[in-house]
Amino acid sequence: MTTVLIKHLGRYVNQEVQIEGWLFNKRSSGKIRFIIIRDGSGQVQATLVRDETDPELFELASSVTQESSIRATGLVREEPRSPSGYELTVTGIEIVGGSQDYPITLKEHGVDFLADRRHLWIRGPRQASILRIRSEIEQAIRDFFYERDFILADSPIITALAAEGTTNLFEIDYHGEKAYLAQTGQLYSEATAMALGRVYNFGPVFRAEKSKTRRHLLEFWMAEAEMAYCDHEANLKIQEELVYYIIQRVLQRKSLELKTLKRDIGKLEAVSLPFPRISYTEAVKILRDSGEDFNWGDDFGAPQETLLSERFASPLFVHRFPAEIKAFYMKPDPEDSKVVLGADLLAPEGYGEIIGGGQRIEDLVLLRQKIMQHNLPEEEFQWYLDLRRYGSVPHAGFGLGLERTVAWICGIEHIREAVPFPRMLYRIRP
Ligand code: 4AD
Ligand code: MG
Repeated sequence: MTTVLIKHLGRYVNQEVQIEGWLFNKRSSGKIRFIIIRDGSGQVQATLVRDETDPELFELASSVTQESSIRATGLVREEPRSPSGYELTVTGIEIVGGSQDYPITLKEHGVDFLADRRHLWIRGPRQASILRIRSEIEQAIRDFFYERDFILADSPIITALAAEGTTNLFEIDYHGEKAYLAQTGQLYSEATAMALGRVYNFGPVFRAEKSKTRRHLLEFWMAEAEMAYCDHEANLKIQEELVYYIIQRVLQRKSLELKTLKRDIGKLEAVSLPFPRISYTEAVKILRDSGEDFNWGDDFGAPQETLLSERFASPLFVHRFPAEIKAFYMKPDPEDSKVVLGADLLAPEGYGEIIGGGQRIEDLVLLRQKIMQHNLPEEEFQWYLDLRRYGSVPHAGFGLGLERTVAWICGIEHIREAVPFPRMLYRIRP
């Protein structure tokens, strides 16, 4: 008999197939038993009618416990009332591994209780839906870059330099030498862009954040693009195209998951190109006009980001931030050197900054000055300065925070549910 994924059951209507999964839940109603089986690809309701089923099989279906692993055979039927559109009439069940006293019941549990059992919590339909959407987003990102001739050039995780400030570095002992976990792959991507033209890196980055918020992880994934011969405007354009592409992909391919999450998809469908753009200086005016006590030169916190992004249905670019509050490598605006040619992309609905990016300084003398001003050790940056010594070109790039993007698209409260095993202040287990 063919073994099939639950998500593909629709291809086998009126055929007998086998599925391999776990018992999510069961109910009974008079002489009918309903067992709900999940296999990672989805879930299906399987039914047994007492008078039409072998008594031993009926008994087995009645006694199988939550999260037991089972192989089940059955006839696929169309069932318009079921979320997936199909049901299974069971013809056989084999218990592969039993499960006693599964700790996560179908009742509500507190967040700490669930977080301690994250290895089991991810089996639930909400968490599994989020992880499937995350996987789709990662694939969309790879496809987007691949279709546009970007080369995937992976950046190292262990590094000798601090690229995004020294306040949140994870230090490690590299055989007696001081090293750090990468906060970004950007500086390496600038090097690979000079070799390959348009590149991206996609992997985990690390920041020893000391505050506990619903938007910060200590380990998160970033997709970072870097483009030679690219300026600030072209950089914004590719960012908005990427985000739009991701949204369309999830709407097309993950509607069942969005439904499980009760996501208001109208909000995602309302996202359209081009995304609105305002300068930091304009943003300050908007904030002050809405009564915020905010001065030019201050950095945005979550409340300010929410206030600004709430006004738009699409993500909002805030560009030309004060040089003082941005990283050393950002290129000053030739028309006003107090601000830099960088932008943050703020997601709607208060999800905050999902992308940070900008045009980089291509001039050797200026870049050296900035490294000094930021009190960074110049000797560590010699290789990075080489990129300005040998055929420097205008170039730009950006980094998209994967978990923030997943949290927004899924409409979930907290970023910890956007990654299989979150690393947060006070939590590294499981
Ligand atoms: O704005 P950030 O710090 O930008 C960079 O690291 C640049 N080097 C990227 C580049 O230009 N190549 O971080 C980029 C994104 C943020 O917009 C945010 O979405 C996410 O990474 N991010 C975090 N996500 C989860 N937890 C944290 N602690 C995060 N810090 C940043
Ligand atoms: Mg940023």
